Amino acid sequence: MTGSTGLPETGSGGRRVEHIGIAVRKLDEAVRRYEALLGVACYGIEAVEDQGVNTAFFRLGDVKIELLESASPDGPLGKFLETRGEGLHHIAYRVPDVAEALRQAEAAGFRLIDKEPRRGAEGMLIAFVHPKSTGGVLTEFCQIP
Ligand code: CO
Repeated sequence: MTGSTGLPETGSGGRRVEHIGIAVRKLDEAVRRYEALLGVACYGIEAVEDQGVNTAFFRLGDVKIELLESASPDGPLGKFLETRGEGLHHIAYRVPDVAEALRQAEAAGFRLIDKEPRRGAEGMLIAFVHPKSTGGVLTEFCQIP
């Protein structure tokens, strides 16, 4: 059953917030800061070469916090830190099929950063939608392959 928006009235079709990405300058310092802030230990640190970032993850219930440090000043995250400084970077939504989510977003007029899913942290397939088309929020779709 669908409502007036064409979307299911109940449930989210397997979609949910998977993690919130936070840009930091120094990952080791930020991990200590967040461990002190959250009272939760970081459970994983991973270099994601495809994205030019080093990541650290915290699990809080169903949602994770992803701290992101740029592996190079010239990468997209390095530029973000230079212009915007540390802080909220993106929201990641888990979807059943990233490629399909990209097709739907593009058909709905959103500007894609990634036309195809890429390999992200934790072995996920990921893709980004440009913040200029989403009202200022860098948006990630992710899927467990
Ligand atoms: Co992410």
